[in-house]
Amino acid sequence: MLDKLESVYTDGIAALDAINDGDALRDWELTYLGKKGALTELMRGVGALPKEDRAAFGKRANEVKEALTAAYAARDDIVKAHALALDLVGGEIDVTLPGRTAQKGGLHPSTHTLRRFYAIWSTMGFQVYRSRDVEDDETNFTLLNMPPYHPARDMQDTIYTTTPNVILRTHTSPGQIRAMRELGADGTAPIRVIIPGMCYRFEQITARSEIQFHQVEALCVGRNIKMSDLKGTVAEFARRMYGDSAKVRFRASYFPFTEPSMEVDVECFLCGGEGCRICKYAGWLEIAGSGMVHPTVLQNGGYDPREWSGFAFGMGPERITMLRHGIQDIRYFWGNDLRFLEQF
Ligand code: PHE
Repeated sequence: MLDKLESVYTDGIAALDAINDGDALRDWELTYLGKKGALTELMRGVGALPKEDRAAFGKRANEVKEALTAAYAARDDIVKAHALALDLVGGEIDVTLPGRTAQKGGLHPSTHTLRRFYAIWSTMGFQVYRSRDVEDDETNFTLLNMPPYHPARDMQDTIYTTTPNVILRTHTSPGQIRAMRELGADGTAPIRVIIPGMCYRFEQITARSEIQFHQVEALCVGRNIKMSDLKGTVAEFARRMYGDSAKVRFRASYFPFTEPSMEVDVECFLCGGEGCRICKYAGWLEIAGSGMVHPTVLQNGGYDPREWSGFAFGMGPERITMLRHGIQDIRYFWGNDLRFLEQF
């Protein structure tokens, strides 16, 4: 039987060397390695050998099997390369056809605007602070001076989760509390951060409002921060974002977590203040809500409001992107329509 084994081996290798196509290769596999192949048959017959010879036979049979399997794999590579070469010469693949250009991915327009924000704010000494999307009711509202009965809660239709008091943040302002508590060293260290992120509101989706959108919050806390710091910082941001001639103006407004509160307008960068369709002939575009951090909020962040003060404002990158590119409908942003996304 050992002799037979050796001849299966030598025959197998010899037969393999002569094979040049896939069909013959498959036949070979059946003949030698298949369930009814020569090697398998031999290995099945091991019981007929005297006990003392079985181990030696088994060992050799396994070696032969491994060697044939390896030789088969090597031949398979050669056969495939051969087939490809034949195809190329025979013209089944037309190598003169122009190739398909690979599609290039691009940044989402919001990401683009966000990155510009980061770049500008970093040159002005503001770090990026990441706060959570999933918030608790207390941080999103109560600690921002909006107790459960406060009418300003109605300004923000909230998306609740099935867990009591766990909500999706309706704005990035709760990040103010988290930043102060995390970075403020118990109310002893100044802070300069921007807090970017997605916000969620349970709103009717229209061309002008979506249930999700980004905000970028800016927060500055220090020992002698005044409203002039807020105005100067916003004006400088506008200059870096919209060019040296950009003008800003402030209008009195109301937010529970700032006092006083102001809305910020920038002179329309499309018409230069002349009045156009985009600015609705007002000459100004609203870009942010802002104000001096309310003493109660400073306190909730761990600061003594008699010694510390701060300013904060919140900007909407989608709105700015829409204005910049003349995008008429905010629903394009999360609609995942490549025809829209590919334009950026
Ligand atoms: N959080 C406010 C909003 O969602 C914006 C804001 C931020 C206003 C910071 C004042 C200060 O509209």
